Amino acid sequence: MPRLNIQLGYAGFAGDMSAWLDFGCGIYGLQALPGENELRFRIDDRAWRIAIRQSDTPGVDYIGLEVGTLRDLQAIAGRLRQFGHQATENRDLAKTRNVFHLIETEAPDGTRIELFVGGLTLSEAFVSPTGARFVTGSAGLGHVLLLVPDIEAALAFFVDVIGLRRTDSIEVVPGSDGHFLNGGKRHHVVALAHIPGVTGFDHIYLEVDRMSTVGRAWDKVSGGAAPVARSLGQHANDPALSFYAQSPSGFLFEYGFASTLIDDPESWTETRWESAYLWGGTFGSHAVG
Ligand SMILES: [Fe+2]
Repeated sequence: MPRLNIQLGYAGFAGDMSAWLDFGCGIYGLQALPGENELRFRIDDRAWRIAIRQSDTPGVDYIGLEVGTLRDLQAIAGRLRQFGHQATENRDLAKTRNVFHLIETEAPDGTRIELFVGGLTLSEAFVSPTGARFVTGSAGLGHVLLLVPDIEAALAFFVDVIGLRRTDSIEVVPGSDGHFLNGGKRHHVVALAHIPGVTGFDHIYLEVDRMSTVGRAWDKVSGGAAPVARSLGQHANDPALSFYAQSPSGFLFEYGFASTLIDDPESWTETRWESAYLWGGTFGSHAVG
């Protein structure tokens, strides 16, 4: 399979828009674009990166994976169909999401995945209410971690069909590894783990360019602005400095600094780590990455 450029492009969540407005803007410095039934956030020059649909049933609506070229997107769609997965081109949805071309599919755990090319870039500059500057560009929006019921089915889907490649793994519970999947510059775009009794969307990670931006957000969260899920610490594999808070939609929101960006993925050697953390990261019932 040829090396593909695949990044996290956007994500759509369901929850309380008002709570997300305070959470996203006040703590993390996202720029809000409020709408009647949907709140969108900008973090860079893209038209939007995170959308919140007003709902009393919080959760994850969709994950957008951005593919480098239309040719690569079509190749992925072909493999999806070949392996018996949905691959539906949706032009109306592409307009709604402000992208050029979009293919809908579904991961084995039921997560809705939208593969796209051509995200809209605005002329108007992103302005953060806290002065945060996010690390995006060719590294995309960040990463997500999915806790899946069937790790082999999830790996087959994201690696063999979508085309991501494992950078490393960590034993997260005895006998069960978390797997970190790279698609280009970002160390991992999607991480997968199987933890018995726990399934669903664990967290989304966003990265900023200064340690002090993470530290000032940590001051707010540790001071009570949102529930702490995992305290400030440094991961072993990225090795990002980050912390996790519980978002208004229940899943976790990781905010970090200085994760590895991979300039030459072809030279990467897959490894396996003893632990998820070099230091810190306490409070959580599990700590994957
Ligand atoms: Fe993470």
